[in-house]
Amino acid sequence: MKMDNHGVLQMTQMQYATDRRRAENPVKVQDLTFRDGHQSLFATRGRTEDMLVVAEQMDKVGFYSMEVWGGATFDTMTRYLNEDPWERIRVLKKHIRNTPFSMLLRGQNLVGYRNYADDVVETFVQRACDNGIDIFRVFDALNDFRNFETAVKIIQKNKKHFQGAICYSLTEMRMGGEIYTIDYYVKKAKELEKMGADTIAIKDMAGIISPYDAYNLIKALKEAVKVPIHLHTHFTSGMGDLALLKAVEAGVDIIDTCMAPYAYRTSHAAIEPLVVTLLGTNRDTGMDIKLLDAIDKELEKAIPKYMHYADNTKYSIIDTNVIIHQTPGGMLSNLVNQLRQMDALDRLDEVFETLPKVRKDLGMIPLVTPTSQIVGIQTVNNVLFDKKPGEYSHITEQVKDLCYGLYGETTRPINSEVRAKALKDYPRGQKPITKRPGDVLEPEMPGIKEQAKGLAKDIDDELIVALYPVTGPKFLKWKYGLEEVPADVKPLSIEEVEKKNALIEKALAGKLVECPDKEAPEKPENIRTFDVFVDGEYFKVEVNEKGVPAIARPAAAKPVSQPKPAAPAPVKADPVPAKASKNEVAAADGDQVIHAPMPGMIISYEKKVGDTVKYGETVLVLEAMKMYNNIACPCDGVVKAIPFGKGDSVGKGDTLLVVSPK
Ligand code: CO
Repeated sequence: MKMDNHGVLQMTQMQYATDRRRAENPVKVQDLTFRDGHQSLFATRGRTEDMLVVAEQMDKVGFYSMEVWGGATFDTMTRYLNEDPWERIRVLKKHIRNTPFSMLLRGQNLVGYRNYADDVVETFVQRACDNGIDIFRVFDALNDFRNFETAVKIIQKNKKHFQGAICYSLTEMRMGGEIYTIDYYVKKAKELEKMGADTIAIKDMAGIISPYDAYNLIKALKEAVKVPIHLHTHFTSGMGDLALLKAVEAGVDIIDTCMAPYAYRTSHAAIEPLVVTLLGTNRDTGMDIKLLDAIDKELEKAIPKYMHYADNTKYSIIDTNVIIHQTPGGMLSNLVNQLRQMDALDRLDEVFETLPKVRKDLGMIPLVTPTSQIVGIQTVNNVLFDKKPGEYSHITEQVKDLCYGLYGETTRPINSEVRAKALKDYPRGQKPITKRPGDVLEPEMPGIKEQAKGLAKDIDDELIVALYPVTGPKFLKWKYGLEEVPADVKPLSIEEVEKKNALIEKALAGKLVECPDKEAPEKPENIRTFDVFVDGEYFKVEVNEKGVPAIARPAAAKPVSQPKPAAPAPVKADPVPAKASKNEVAAADGDQVIHAPMPGMIISYEKKVGDTVKYGETVLVLEAMKMYNNIACPCDGVVKAIPFGKGDSVGKGDTLLVVSPK
């Protein structure tokens, strides 16, 4: 032994042959393939069936743990995959018996986008323990650890592992500046140690930690606290595996990686090169590269099913924008999608310019779900709707909640003008709170039980409704066969995938025949529809299940806009008039029509036809990119028509409501 490579001892070849399995201080590795891997690369669309193929082999690798749940999986499974997230843990547990399961928990946000009441948090965490989660990686988007308290109480009561995570953020391009310094993280780590954290993670969700910052930070943390340190970073900027290697040299205890087919781009470093890099050192992982390779080959087989969701807009696998704008991988594609849906992709540069200003106004908070969406969508609103800079003409409900203190304490105080404007008509009051957000939220479970009656069969079902009041009940209707599952939501067989991909290839080669609607052959039954983009142009591709005549034609007339998300079919829950297209709504001369300012989903109508409404009153709530927008009435009058219902998807410019002015 004894070539010292920056803290990593290397054995001689001879020693390696005999000592390989006896590394003094092996790096522990958590695998993220089943959660952050497909969340980062394939919009969280990974299905349980494709995980099961390799589950038993994965269990043999010797991972410290496998992250299999939490983050966006819960939402996506119920919204787009028609899979019960609770069932996924139980099924995987049958096949993975030795490796502990870990989940990503957004503190008091759980796996949703706002702070829930304590009773929801207690029930959810308890059920996650009961269903088989062993390690809870808990984080809060504001690094306000008061938002951990309720979750941690339940984790510790169940004797499960509490990993406290600190969101990694920067004020400038490298660590330093005034706010996010080494001292900031050391102070946060000490708070977590005091709370009884079993391990502490640095959660670099955007992949912005540079290798030397990683080295210095891990060294400082190892000196300051006793509990093991875990580094989570993304490859996005291209620094991912360099940062991990420097962290290993600095003595990091645990690192996060993915299996190769789920690694790199906006995902994580791959495990395979790290295993070989550390081979024969005192930090050797001890893992069998041949076993990893065998798993990779299996995983590769299902990838074609998910390529549809991958970002194929550029050839480069790294994104230097991320270093400059500190935008988490997912946030960037969300912003692009949001702008594309509003036919405003040309404003992307303005959005990037405005984003740091909005972040500063909102207290220099880290950007991670849900703050990344909150800051991102508010920035889009400012760029698109403000007549003068900094006007904040369309403030989302989440920004109002943030200003009120419902997300916790921001890193720096919020701009007082923005705060005053946001809280002007805020129902809870104009003076922000300073106590723990959970302390002001009324218990929610009793109301949820009432709301879920007749639909939910157990507490796990009720929690789905508690987390997602609109899409949750919709999912339960699919689950119990009360409503037909839309074709887009059903899993595809590999044969269907191959057919679809062949069509995409044809389209790319310019071989698609444009069929005007009237000449199109009669639509056969069992047709499946796919959204395909070719050079930015949107095609609706329809595939017969037998694979016979396929029709492809340009979808809507130009300007081409992104199709509505593969959202489940609308539910007509409320007794509103039948859904009509915007052209069919009867609006007489003089009527005031509220058009959708952005594409989204109707969360609720606050009024019904015939109701009297006042100027400025909220008449409906529209969800866009998971942010709620209260839409106000443009005049005093009477509601004349409501063409949509709760849960309906609407396009930009659709008529949402007609008012006869008084
Ligand atoms: Co991540």
